[in-house]
Amino acid sequence: TQNINLAVVPGDGIGPEVVTEALKVLDAAGTDLKVSTTEYDLGARRWHATGETLPDSVLEELRGHDVILLGAVGDPGVPSGVLERGLLLRLRFAFDHYVNLRPSRIVPGVQTPLADPGEVDFVVVREGTEGPYVGNGGVLRVDTPHEIATEVSVNTAFGVERVVRDAFRRANDRPRRKLTYIHKHNVLVHAGHLWRRTVERVGREFPDIAVDYMHVDAAMIHMVTNPARFDVIVTDNLFGDIVTDLAAAVAGGIGLAASGSVNPERTAPSMFEPVHGSAPDIVGQGIADPTATVSSVAMLLEHLGIPDLAQKVNDAVAADLASRGDTPRRTTEIGDALAARVSS
Ligand code: NAD
Ligand code: IPM
Ligand code: MN
Repeated sequence: TQNINLAVVPGDGIGPEVVTEALKVLDAAGTDLKVSTTEYDLGARRWHATGETLPDSVLEELRGHDVILLGAVGDPGVPSGVLERGLLLRLRFAFDHYVNLRPSRIVPGVQTPLADPGEVDFVVVREGTEGPYVGNGGVLRVDTPHEIATEVSVNTAFGVERVVRDAFRRANDRPRRKLTYIHKHNVLVHAGHLWRRTVERVGREFPDIAVDYMHVDAAMIHMVTNPARFDVIVTDNLFGDIVTDLAAAVAGGIGLAASGSVNPERTAPSMFEPVHGSAPDIVGQGIADPTATVSSVAMLLEHLGIPDLAQKVNDAVAADLASRGDTPRRTTEIGDALAARVSS
C-alpha cells in the first residue's frame, strides 16, 4: 500500500467542478493506494473574505505535502493578476516549479480541428520560474497619455540551463529523440542568444538528440499544419504558455490538456493542474470537461512513481475519448464514466 499526502487547491470557477471528478477517479483507481487529502480554500472566495491570496503559513503547510492538485485560479470579480500572481505564480515560484510539463497526444477517435493530423505525441517543456513572469517591471505616469509600462523578461544562465538540460533528458528517454527549441532570437537578441548558446552547449552532452530551432511565429504554423513533427519542445515561460493553448486546441481541445508544474529535484512538492483556466463563461453549468484534470492526476501518479496506476488512468481516458459520441455529456457523467473504467 502506497500513501499519498495530497494537498488539493480547487480554486476558482470550474476548478472545484473538475477537481471533484478527478478525485473521484483517483479514489476509484487504487485499492492499494491510501490517499490522505487536505483541501485548501484559496482563491476568490478567500480574497473577498480576508484579502489574502496565499498566506505564508498556508504556503508552509502546502510544502509539507507530497504533491498538489490544483483546479484553476482567477475570477472576474477580482482584479486581473491578483490571484494569478499572488496564488498560482507564487506557488510555482516558491516551490521552484521550473519544469512546466505539457504533453499533447492525439488519441485514436478523438475529435480534432485538423483533417489529417497524423500521429501527434509531443511534450512542451515550458520554463516555469523566469521570463516575463517574474514581475520585473513597472509603470511611470500611470493613466496619463505619457504612461510608460515595462515588463522585463528575466533569463538567467542557471535557469535556462536547468530547463534545457531537463528537456534534453526527456528527449533522450523518448524513441524519436528530437528536441525543438522555440524562441524569437531574431528580435529578442539578449535572451534569445542566451537560450541559443545554452542549447548548443548542453546539446554537446546529448550527441544523439536531433536539435532544431524555430522562431515562435513560424513554430505556430507547423503546430497547425504538421504537429506530428514535434517530439520535445523547450521554450520560455510566456512562449510556452501561448504555444500550449494552441497545442491543446490541436490535440482535441483545452478540456483535455494536462500539465505538471514540476520541481525535478523534489526540494518542494510538484503541482499538477489542467492547462485551462477557471472558465467563467461556463462556470456552474456542469458542462466543464474534467478530462484535463483527470489526466493531470495520471501525471501526478507517474511523478510519484506509480506508473501502473498512471497507465490505468490514461487508458481510461483514451477509451472514454474513443467512445465519445456526438451527445455532449455533463462534467459528472464524464467523471463517473472514467471512475467506472479505472475501477473495472
Ligand atoms: P480559460 O482556459 O479559463 O477559458 C478559455 C475557453 O476555454 C473558455 O471558452 C472556456 O469555457 C473553455 N474551457 C476552459 N476549460 C474548459 C473545460 N475544462 N471544459 C470545457 N471548456 C473549457 O481561459 P481564460 O478565459 O483566458 O481565463 C479565465 C480565467 O482563468 C482568468 O482569470 C485567467 O487568468 C485564469 N486562468 C487560470 C489558469 C490556471 O489556473 N492554471 C489558466 C488559464 C487561465
Ligand atoms: C496557465 C495560465 C497561467 C500562466 C496564468 C493564469 C498565470 O495561463 O497555467 O497556462 O500564464 O501560466
Ligand atoms: Mn495559459
